[in-house]
Amino acid sequence: MKAAAGLEATLGRVGLRMARSLDLDDVLGEITRGLVRDLEAAMARIWLVRPDDPGVLRLAASAGLSERLDGSHARVPIGSLKIGQIAATRTPVCSTDVLDDPRFTDKAWLRDNGIVTCAGYPLESDDEVLGVLAMFARRPLTELELDWLGIFAAQASVAIQNARLFAEVTTLTRRLEAENTYLKEELGEAGRTGIVGRSAALGLALDALARVAPTRSTVLLHGETGTGKELFARALHEQSPRRAGPLVRVNCAAIAPALVESELFGHEKGAFTGAVQRRIGRFELAQGGTLFLDEIGELPLEAQAKLLRVLQEHELERVGGTQSIRVDARIVAATNRDLAADVKASRFRSDLFFRLNVFPIELPPLRDRREDIPLLAAAFMAALAGRGATPKTVDDDALAYLAAYDWPGNVRELHNVLERASILARTDRIGVGDLPELAAPATADVAEADADDAAKPASSAPLRERVSAYERALVAEALERAEGNQSEAARLLRTSRATLQYKMKLYRL
Ligand SMILES: Nc1ncnc2c1ncn2[C@@H]1O[C@H](COP(=O)(O)OP(=O)(O)OP(=O)(O)O)[C@@H](O)[C@H]1O
Ligand SMILES: [Mg+2]
Repeated sequence: MKAAAGLEATLGRVGLRMARSLDLDDVLGEITRGLVRDLEAAMARIWLVRPDDPGVLRLAASAGLSERLDGSHARVPIGSLKIGQIAATRTPVCSTDVLDDPRFTDKAWLRDNGIVTCAGYPLESDDEVLGVLAMFARRPLTELELDWLGIFAAQASVAIQNARLFAEVTTLTRRLEAENTYLKEELGEAGRTGIVGRSAALGLALDALARVAPTRSTVLLHGETGTGKELFARALHEQSPRRAGPLVRVNCAAIAPALVESELFGHEKGAFTGAVQRRIGRFELAQGGTLFLDEIGELPLEAQAKLLRVLQEHELERVGGTQSIRVDARIVAATNRDLAADVKASRFRSDLFFRLNVFPIELPPLRDRREDIPLLAAAFMAALAGRGATPKTVDDDALAYLAAYDWPGNVRELHNVLERASILARTDRIGVGDLPELAAPATADVAEADADDAAKPASSAPLRERVSAYERALVAEALERAEGNQSEAARLLRTSRATLQYKMKLYRL
């Protein structure tokens, strides 16, 4: 039998090792393995109370006879069994003759494993129970040894608390970093936050947004590139009861397929080569807030299955981890793909699609709400001018010219065009002359094409080019007849002046 002095030294050694680590799993491992290795314990176990589930002790470390964390006694409600009573009463329970002690009921297990001593100690901080430390030994321990174990349990409590605080700080730092990069990206986009527009098409989407924002429903934003999906996701978060929580974005298109899981769910230290540190995933970072799954249509099929599981069970495990973590994040997903078609083509899981498509919001393309262009232009000019400065104005001709274009890049393209124009414009008024030629590259070339040639029925030119060449000829002819008067030429062609100007620019007339 070890002398108490030897025990003191052993516990001191274990204590030192556990105090050095700030990783909770390391600390717990040091404690349980230390008790088994240095104190000849047959088994040592630690149960912890999780902050999100305060009524239950969960097995967090186990060494000796069993190292499994999911076997018997993995979950013990506080107050039940010996372990639960130690936590409830915050009083140690020790016996050096368990077979004769009526407080211990599992006699068969104790006898089979030759257990003589059981010692259980509450792990506690000033104001709460952190968990329970228990050790089972095949020899009787002395009073003095049990006292030392009690002191050791108090030290272990401090080490566990430190590791928890450290983990919390790490999570917060990571969250702040994530939010910071997000904010920086935002600021890079000129700090625009408001959704601008009064068209009926946008109104429908705004109505839907206002109705779903206060709920917990999953929202799927669908729209072409540049239609404001990200803007809507942010507005949704801001208008939800979770606005004080984090808004975390994941760009599903930008993560390497091999890292999707670790990015979303995090990983434990050593989960795979290169996992040198524990990593908190985006789901955990979004706890209490909103998780924005951008470009969800680009998520690889394998990752889709894992995402589905988390959405169904509201629980996740870090890669290489054993603990399940409750997920409390509102999900907003966005895509410019036709997910229903992707489901048909087996590129997207139908079950995930139905999980996400709870409340779809369709964002209209800019060409379906051209009446918003003057408002958008004014808003962009105000943002570009910066605080205090007088914004430049976009004149009516320029607005009409902008309204005639089809905007494949939608609001983002409009913004870029206006930003460039405001830099190029020599005065405070932006006119048609300051705007670039707004034409799809495929039709731009026809300006030079020979109209007569292309218009011949036998010509081998593609239909689109021939039609364009014909149109160019018509516009040129009208302008000639109107002697350069644009309003008159537009009247002759029975079109608007804006369209005429657009075509003139397109065909370089
Ligand atoms: N209704 C709007 N009012 C004001 N600005 C808008 C509006 N819609 C979009 N924008 C602006 O247009 C730009 C593109 O919007 P956003 O990034 O939200 O588009 P998206 O749909 O996510 O595009 P993508 O599919 O390419 O990622 C942003 O700068 C955004 O602020
Ligand atoms: Mg986007």
